[in-house]
Amino acid sequence: MRKQSFFNHNWRYAAQKAALDAPDDLFEAVTLPHANKIFPHSNFDNQEYQFISTYRKTFSVWGGNREDGADVPAGPEGYARGQDALVFLDFDGVMLACTVFLNGKMVGEHLGGYAPFSVEISGELRDGENILTVYVDSRERKDIPPYGHLVDYLTFGGIYRDVYLRMVSPIHIENMFIQTADVLNDPRLFCDVRVNHFSEGLSLKATLVDSQGDEIASAYQTAAQKTTRVTFEALPATALWSIESPTLYSLQVSLIQNGEIVDTLSSRFGFRQAEFRPDGGFYLNGDRIPLVGLNRHQTYPYIGAAAPRRLQRQDAEIIKYELACNVVRTSHYPQSPHFLDRCDEIGLLVFEEITGWQHVGDDKWQAICLDELEVMIERDRNRPAVILWGVRVNESGDNDDLYARTNALAHKLDPSRQTGGVRDFLGSSFLEDVYTLNDFSNGIQKPREQPHLITEYSGHMFPTKIWDHEERLIEHALLHAKICNLQIGNEKIAGAIGWCAFDYATHIEFGSGDRICYHGVMDIFRMPKWAAYLYQSQQAPAKKAVLQAATHWTMGDRNGGGNNPITVFSNCDEVEIIIGENNVGRFQPDFDSYPHLAHPPFVIHGLNAYSAWGQAEFYDLHLVGYVQGEAVIEQWISSSRLPKRLALSTDSDELQADGTDMTRLMFKVTDEFGNPLPYAAKVVSFELEGEAELIGENPFPLIGGQAALYIKAGHQPGRVTVRADAPGLPQALVSLAIVPAAAVEGRKFQRRISKSSPISFRG
Ligand code: GAL
Repeated sequence: MRKQSFFNHNWRYAAQKAALDAPDDLFEAVTLPHANKIFPHSNFDNQEYQFISTYRKTFSVWGGNREDGADVPAGPEGYARGQDALVFLDFDGVMLACTVFLNGKMVGEHLGGYAPFSVEISGELRDGENILTVYVDSRERKDIPPYGHLVDYLTFGGIYRDVYLRMVSPIHIENMFIQTADVLNDPRLFCDVRVNHFSEGLSLKATLVDSQGDEIASAYQTAAQKTTRVTFEALPATALWSIESPTLYSLQVSLIQNGEIVDTLSSRFGFRQAEFRPDGGFYLNGDRIPLVGLNRHQTYPYIGAAAPRRLQRQDAEIIKYELACNVVRTSHYPQSPHFLDRCDEIGLLVFEEITGWQHVGDDKWQAICLDELEVMIERDRNRPAVILWGVRVNESGDNDDLYARTNALAHKLDPSRQTGGVRDFLGSSFLEDVYTLNDFSNGIQKPREQPHLITEYSGHMFPTKIWDHEERLIEHALLHAKICNLQIGNEKIAGAIGWCAFDYATHIEFGSGDRICYHGVMDIFRMPKWAAYLYQSQQAPAKKAVLQAATHWTMGDRNGGGNNPITVFSNCDEVEIIIGENNVGRFQPDFDSYPHLAHPPFVIHGLNAYSAWGQAEFYDLHLVGYVQGEAVIEQWISSSRLPKRLALSTDSDELQADGTDMTRLMFKVTDEFGNPLPYAAKVVSFELEGEAELIGENPFPLIGGQAALYIKAGHQPGRVTVRADAPGLPQALVSLAIVPAAAVEGRKFQRRISKSSPISFRG
């Protein structure tokens, strides 16, 4: 029977190409996911992650002392040496290329940093101790996507996603593709199951399991070939998967050989119908939904792309709950399964695309691109959240030969989903099902093809830093408001996905010179700029009342001074403004300028009497939000603008003692009401006590009023306390628990790579 376990622990790492027999003391102990280098959050050189590194792990599967390979299942039940189990290593992602050696012999090679791959090690495994070596080439090699030309993002390096060890019987399930049909009237369910090797006497049993874990239906099929379809004849009543109610089911498929179950694999899925229609709209379960979303890069401050499960999942939560988006684009490559898992669970739609940026390389490069497309679709086609495959290298020119192939491949592997192909000009060859356009006109270009989806706007047209002048921050937020309003009001547009959710690290040819693109509606730490509140305020107030005044509340920061008008992002019906003792009045959202937004910004004029340069004494600002006449939320902003507090918080009060779990440690210098003070520059220093590590700059020279580090768990349960100090402010403290690591279920994706000649690490 199948056994799968984490293979993330007890690795050794050397930041160089070490000989296969190099002594262990050349290496440091690490846990995966791992970044080949830790950076400051900005102002670093991408040359510094570009090298070949060596990862080594000593482990035993059969016999021998298992201490070193503690995450290998002890005594793999049902398997003993000689019972012919096949053993694989499943890598979720290694940046950018790697070769894998077991006991001195090469067992696999993989090119490309965003796709998972599997290496079979059965043949080379020996009793007792085995030594695994992975050479990771993190150089920006021109022969591997996205490289070959300029790229506006960094790839970073290392074994930056999870690794699993998997044991299966010689005949096992390789992949399953679950499809539903007619979900709105008479739901049907079938699954194409592929085995690694067909032989006579095989049959399949599929069991449908609901979200409570109850088995609710099953189906049988004799296997007649490598891929066999199992069809459910009758289904009990099932619930739809939707944005509001993302009900997940799972399908458990057992492979039976001569009456005995030899393998079982399961996958989650949902009953839902998602389609872009010729009328221009996107329909989910028959209802037209304007898509409102943001692009996400998978990179983080300090750790590059090596974010563990918790941080990956949290990004999906931020985009759904803090930015109230209904869709995300995985710009510009397949992203972490943990991120996508969370999208499935919380109902965040996904446009997932292949790797690349404006450049298409030679035949070999294109072969990697096609291979990644295949792997991406085979990995993610059971996910209800995924609604569209991006089968064109982002913003590349027309290339009918290549894109006819990517489209055909996508349709063959997944007839149930449409394709898009992101370009930045109108009138290109329309080989896909949806015309997906990056529209940087700062307005909306008239669609020529249907359906039409905007896949980027704003971005480099309006880079904005958290410490920018307030007029720029407001204008940034209002540009997003403008495009959202225009697209929702245009029935020929299915939706728009803005550039982008979070600021990100980039090459020197882009960004602000400090190697950061300040294009996010949140900063690189995933903390909000005012544009974030524009998105957040589009949700119903019943879910969460939102009220954020877009003002630094100063008398002399704007051109000409004063505070007129004040922009407020809120989903309330009315906002009341009180300045000192003066109740200025209640105001309504600006429906005249933004008629299509559910909750337009409030743009409140007429404050001069209370806040004009040289004409009014200056008092605290108090805003109250009303829904149906009832006060539901308020905000106070201090007129003194003096730093009063150092606010410190974590997203989670618990981490797992697995040596890799992390939570964000946010810190802000605020006024007495908790508003960050973007101009209050302070050096903040941190002290950590307990079995954990701080990742990030310490001390941290804070500008912008807010930033974050990460707390990374060690291997021992216990309590961790962090104290933060900034000159002139009371010390801040947070504490959290490190709890014993829970067993986490293994990943289901597998894909075998072929062995080939050792990679030549070209200099
Ligand atoms: C687009 C590109 C994105 C990003 C963006 C900045 O052209 O697709 O990756 O560079 O510009 O606005």
